[in-house]
Amino acid sequence: MPADYQLWIDGAPTDAASGETFETLDPSTGQAHATVARAGQVDAGRAVAAARAAFEDGRWSGLKPERRAAVLQAVAAKLKEEAGRLVDLEVRDSGGTVRKTRSADVSGAMFTFRTYAELATRLPAELPLPFTVAPGPSHNYLRREPVGVCAAIVPWNFPIQNAAWKLAPALAAGNTVVLKPAEQTPCSAIELAKLCTEAGVPDGVVNVLPGFGPEAGEPLVTSPEVDKVAFTGSTEVGRRVAALAAGTVKKVLLELGGKSANILLDDADLDLAADGAAYAIFFHQGQVCTAGSRLLVARPIHDEVVARLVDIAERITVGPAADPASDMGPLISAEQLERVERYVRVGQEDGAKLATGGHRVEVPGHEGGFYFAPTIFTGADPSSRIAQEEIFGPVLTVIPVDDDDQAVAVANDSPYGLAGAVWSRDSARAVRVAERLRTGTVWVNDYHLLNPRYPFGGYKQSGVGRELGEQGYLEYTQTKHVHVDITQQRARHRWFDVTIPRRRPDPPPGPSAGATPGA
Ligand code: NAI
Ligand code: MG
Repeated sequence: MPADYQLWIDGAPTDAASGETFETLDPSTGQAHATVARAGQVDAGRAVAAARAAFEDGRWSGLKPERRAAVLQAVAAKLKEEAGRLVDLEVRDSGGTVRKTRSADVSGAMFTFRTYAELATRLPAELPLPFTVAPGPSHNYLRREPVGVCAAIVPWNFPIQNAAWKLAPALAAGNTVVLKPAEQTPCSAIELAKLCTEAGVPDGVVNVLPGFGPEAGEPLVTSPEVDKVAFTGSTEVGRRVAALAAGTVKKVLLELGGKSANILLDDADLDLAADGAAYAIFFHQGQVCTAGSRLLVARPIHDEVVARLVDIAERITVGPAADPASDMGPLISAEQLERVERYVRVGQEDGAKLATGGHRVEVPGHEGGFYFAPTIFTGADPSSRIAQEEIFGPVLTVIPVDDDDQAVAVANDSPYGLAGAVWSRDSARAVRVAERLRTGTVWVNDYHLLNPRYPFGGYKQSGVGRELGEQGYLEYTQTKHVHVDITQQRARHRWFDVTIPRRRPDPPPGPSAGATPGA
């Protein structure tokens, strides 16, 4: 029996060469909800070959940007048509609440495809360069060409949106793609590839390899036929991807972990900032790379902020992802639940005080689900593990600070630099703090809002390169400079003389023509 979800290679579903499958769980119940073909090295080879062939014959890269843009708009339209079904599937496969999945994932993916359809036509593929007369007259221009075959390796926290963040700019620029979804959340990527085919993306341009990192991901990273790897996930695996990619000198885009600082200045509007701080950490159970997991609070308002946050945390409903009444759903897996529990123990051992939470939650009727309570620590040392390491769960570490300078110093005392926020009624003051933070995104009086029109990525060990926006599009292009000499005269190519002797002038015509002196 074929798996419920198969690989997608060269425009068609197919089983793994090995015939192997794996189960994908519904985190709300802890039960398997579908079987999925398990891609391995042979399948990776097939997918890369399909993507290579599709790239080389120009069936996609050779189209005018307007044609590609029209197809991307059709993908966006399909996502809209199929949104209800895709949301249900993604909620089941990823444990993201239905409220989060509808807005952040499926409509986020749709908006990303639209944005890149527009960018593909707005950013010219050819650009003039200044006319040059020295050392000789020449026309010069730039071409933005696709990179080639791109591998996209994505995590489980925003499955379809993360796939779209890589597919849409790659496709807009004319590349072909092999997408490896996370083993925890393989389904929506396969559905997305199917929609791409239905929308008119030619066969072989989008291929999907559901499976595990070492088996399905690494062969993409090491393949000499893959020109670029775009990876989102843990900093640890990101390091490995970068090291392996060096073997064939591919372009690497990395979007990795974070320990983002959320700074509440003493003049913050607490009705806004307390809800904002809770949203920053508890959105999607804290399984967000930009999670505001370190809350730096001006000392005079610290106790009030903690009291408000504890109240909010205790009002949050933790429940099954499909229930619209659930504010928070389950964590992705038993492993992630154990990781979060381990960090709670570490925090306590290191002397921090648990203000609320710190335990699993039993949801009646969903006993196998991976639920954890919103958790808040106070009194942690800024250098302790719960203040330094990415937990990737609903665990907030609150740290008091004495002034804006100290807030900046503590915020920047991190190996990460993905995001952060500043809350203040004085936006000039907030911006002064924001500009001193060593992170790729800073929100002022807001949190988590990312827009496909604006670039996103990390400083320090949070990553390399930028996704989204124009910059995210350019990451999927190569720049070619074309120089066209306009003289076509050897005498005017004097720079050749550095190495190449000029031919002696022809002897004058006359009776002695043909006779070589001295011969
Ligand atoms: P991970 O980094 O192992 O997984 C991300 C993707 O990389 C998945 O598709 C996975 O199959 C793939 N992968 C794993 N090993 C690979 C390899 N050797 N070669 C190529 N691809 C490989 O993340 P994981 O284990 O699921 O989560 C662990 C921690 O990572 C989380 O607790 C969190 O701290 C962090 N994380 C950060 C994310 C982010 O958005 N920045 C997303 C997911 C996880
Ligand atoms: Mg799943």
